Amino acid sequence: MLKHLLTMQDLSINEIYRILNLADQLKYNQQHGIPHRRLEGKTLVTIYEKPSTRTRISFETGMFQLGGLAMYLSGRESQVGRGETAADTARTLSRYCDGIMIRTFRQEDVEELAAYATVPVINGMTDYAHPCQVLADLMTIRERYAHLDGLKLAYVGDGDNMCQSLIVGGLKAGMTVAAATPRDYRPLPEILDFAASDPGFDFLLTDDPREAVQDADVVFTDVWVSMGKEAETEQRLRAFQGYSVTAELLALAKPGCMVQHCLPAHKGQEISQEVFEAHAQEIFDEAENRLHVQKAIMCLLMGGVERED
Ligand code: CP
Repeated sequence: MLKHLLTMQDLSINEIYRILNLADQLKYNQQHGIPHRRLEGKTLVTIYEKPSTRTRISFETGMFQLGGLAMYLSGRESQVGRGETAADTARTLSRYCDGIMIRTFRQEDVEELAAYATVPVINGMTDYAHPCQVLADLMTIRERYAHLDGLKLAYVGDGDNMCQSLIVGGLKAGMTVAAATPRDYRPLPEILDFAASDPGFDFLLTDDPREAVQDADVVFTDVWVSMGKEAETEQRLRAFQGYSVTAELLALAKPGCMVQHCLPAHKGQEISQEVFEAHAQEIFDEAENRLHVQKAIMCLLMGGVERED
């Protein structure tokens, strides 16, 4: 049984669909005013060592809608920022709360938190992975196409957390995945090993965005300068030239293809203003679905599945 959500690798395909199906149901309930207080009396502590708009507000709103309470703990303003270990933080917070969500830099810190916590731990983004975002992305794609398997997902840009989680999530869901990244910004070898681990996986890594986007059903991109990489701005802006999702690039994808962006966007860099605005509806559907998918994740991990609405 799923205890924590730390990476997309943690999830079986059945668990992915369980989350997506419950998220669809919770979205329906929310939109139709049907109460679904499945986590009444439960608390979630959310720890942030990086800034956030979507993650923070969607977890806090989601927990409120489920009848529970989410609390914000800033890395800088708590003992986490003064060096209290993940192990001791986990053992303390497990005495108060029913779940922990953390956004931080190092995946190892999330893994340590989970190793010592006696309550579920949810990765709200590390430099390595962004599983909550990718589950919202899969939900959004499925809403549009009614299925995931057999679709082609193309990613253009930095091969870090979003790209890595999309590769794993997309392949697990039976999608063809093509990633175009500059040679110095490729996904980690362990992600490439995962993509090569199953003869059924259809994966392409290229440095040519045109090759990746060819006949795609959905095209993803992400910022060129991720949080914590600001010192590398000049070098990254140079390296990512040619990795913009523009109308010209998108013309190679299938007609009517979706564009997804986890946000915030730097228009004129990884995505043109024109493409962003033309696909704004589905990009903000994607942002909205963070709320519904995270409510499903919390229900699954924190005992809210067994409760009826
Ligand atoms: N996509 C995402 O995680 O957004 P925030 O950084 O605003 O939380």
